[in-house]
Amino acid sequence: MPKVTVGDKSFEVPENTRLVLALEDNGVDVLHRCGGKARCTTCRVRFEAGEPEQMTQAEYDRLTRDADDNLYGNVRLACQIPVTHDMVVEPLMRLSASEYDGPGARPKDDIEPGPVFIDKP
Ligand code: FES
Repeated sequence: MPKVTVGDKSFEVPENTRLVLALEDNGVDVLHRCGGKARCTTCRVRFEAGEPEQMTQAEYDRLTRDADDNLYGNVRLACQIPVTHDMVVEPLMRLSASEYDGPGARPKDDIEPGPVFIDKP
């Protein structure tokens, strides 16, 4: 099974688990305010190793949506990434450091919207 590492913590997850759920279900207090639908970007992570070469069209569209908010190239959306190999990530927005009263609705097990994978431009 692929391994996800956050700081000094590592855990194995079943292949193709959504990264956001892999994090949350292993005690990482990630946010997912839109419920894992590539809208809010609160699930954003920075890759230290193992960044996927592909991304969903929805992830690309969201990260490039706002010309004055340079997200593309800096972060990835954990809700749009299936864990297919070892990854080292840093969640950038944590519930414990936010003003939210909860992480957001639990994302479904399958990536939403129905994923169309593209090569990372
Ligand atoms: S963009 Fe909202 S949870 Fe990922």
